[in-house]
Amino acid sequence: MSSQDIPEENLPAEQDAHGAVGVADDKDPFADPGLPPHEHRVQDIDERAAKRSERTVAMLFTLSMLATIGFIAAYVGVPHDKAIFVFPIGHINALNFSLGLTLGVALFAIGAGAVHWARTLMSDVEMVDERHPIEAPPEVREKVFDDWKQGAKESAIGRRKLIRNTMLGALTLVPLAGVVLLRDLGPLPGTKLRHTMWRKGLQLVNMNTNEPLRPEDVAVGSLTFAKPEGLEEHDEEFQTEIAKAALMIVRIQPDNIKDKRELEWSHDGIVAYSKICTHVGCPISLYEQQTHHVLCPCHQSTFDLSDGARVIFGPAGHALPQLRIGVNEEGYLEALGDFEEPVGPAFWERG
Ligand code: FES
Repeated sequence: MSSQDIPEENLPAEQDAHGAVGVADDKDPFADPGLPPHEHRVQDIDERAAKRSERTVAMLFTLSMLATIGFIAAYVGVPHDKAIFVFPIGHINALNFSLGLTLGVALFAIGAGAVHWARTLMSDVEMVDERHPIEAPPEVREKVFDDWKQGAKESAIGRRKLIRNTMLGALTLVPLAGVVLLRDLGPLPGTKLRHTMWRKGLQLVNMNTNEPLRPEDVAVGSLTFAKPEGLEEHDEEFQTEIAKAALMIVRIQPDNIKDKRELEWSHDGIVAYSKICTHVGCPISLYEQQTHHVLCPCHQSTFDLSDGARVIFGPAGHALPQLRIGVNEEGYLEALGDFEEPVGPAFWERG
């Protein structure tokens, strides 16, 4: 078969005696690296063979698309607790098996398609190039750009539209497998992070004794931890709720409370603050009764409970949220509503 029958992109621009293509001229000692003569593949000289390869590549990319769709269908449709028997492994989780199988096929088919395309249809002409200094002068960058364009031309991505379109389809669909897995992060939180269990009329319960708190239970200089009435440790949602609703209760002489709003939201000097540090959410537990400072043990953020729990030291970005409290008809401390701002760390940084 003559060179006229070979597609243009598979013809070397300039061949030496060994069939290699060199960018250097004949005087260059590196122009002949001793490569064996170039042998054309059957696809280079037989358009029907090239078409067969093209169909094979397209079939692999199409298989990848189908496998990705199968992955999503399995994720949605296969029960997570169903087991199937797979020889020779035995009984395994059906969902894990289907996800692994379909995603594996989807990725493998893309790789196999790309390899088959490169090995049978893209140009396989041997190239010789010299090593150059690392710096790239403008003419080299221009040459790289030209080479890139030449490579794109030789890949025939513009001419072989079936391969290009199925490859784009496969590469577009494969990331969907990762997107649907985001569902495993759980339901969107909605406004859950902005609100806690606290609401008007809910009594403050001592976390140690599990008894509702009366004002006389809170002495000056003591630190009491409280939770909302009705929240029990065996509740399924206990950890979720207590992580937001835990309170620190202290009693300060009203004359020593510097912040006007704090005084209004307290009862007879008893103030209730979120126990969750506003830095990254550690529970605060150290109280200095002379100064009314509380210290977070994680990174030493210090808050002044006699001055609106403002930050006086450390990385915390804002004051601890205060819970407005009062006393109900039975004489127990109660909340007068939820926190007015989200509790917890700097995710909620309000500048
Ligand atoms: S979590 Fe409290 S200072 Fe970092």
